[in-house]
Amino acid sequence: MDTAEMNDELIKEAMVYVEELFSNNSDGHDVDHTFRVYRNAMRIADKDECDKQIVALAALLHDADDHKLFQTENNYNARSFMESHNMNVEKIEAVCNIINSVSFSKNRGKRPETIEGMIVQDADRLDAIGAIGIARCFAFGGSHGRDLDSSIAHFHEKLLLLKDEMNTACAKQIAEERHQFMEKFLEQYKKEIE
Ligand code: ADP
Ligand code: NI
Repeated sequence: MDTAEMNDELIKEAMVYVEELFSNNSDGHDVDHTFRVYRNAMRIADKDECDKQIVALAALLHDADDHKLFQTENNYNARSFMESHNMNVEKIEAVCNIINSVSFSKNRGKRPETIEGMIVQDADRLDAIGAIGIARCFAFGGSHGRDLDSSIAHFHEKLLLLKDEMNTACAKQIAEERHQFMEKFLEQYKKEIE
């Protein structure tokens, strides 16, 4: 088996692992988000010189220990998966460092230190903007009992700021289109409720 094949197998198993992990969660924070982040990340990774295996694993495992969903500490779920697949310690640490550096609330204004981290952070942030970002924002608001206007407020608190916080050129370009779509949406929304 060559290295590429071996890596593919590990990534496939990571997909199965997160699918199972999130299936026990009824809270809307579904595995589809993880898979979109994974696809965004691989799209950006194609344009940059980086370790694609690290990018793929960090993207797939980035919410595996999200404190909103799991009461784990020290990246327990992500680590368990990687340890049970005999990954070496440096790689496991690299993936965990990335996971810990992508969260928006914990890392406001801070950039991850590695290109792999920057890519995964961009990939996660791309899923918070554009049409998908709008949908997620209202889904989140609804499930937390918020009215429409407080979800609209979240656009100004976070979603409209993300475009300028992208790390990579590729994500900046994708973010531009998604940002414009949100601006248009807000304009139309305002027109209709006035
Ligand atoms: P992630 O963990 O994927 O970075 P979050 O868990 O912070 O994202 O948020 C999940 C989704 O819910 C995102 O699309 C985010 O914009 C949205 N969201 C988070 N907080 C709020 C809020 N206060 N009001 C509306 N939407 C929110
Ligand atoms: Ni996420």
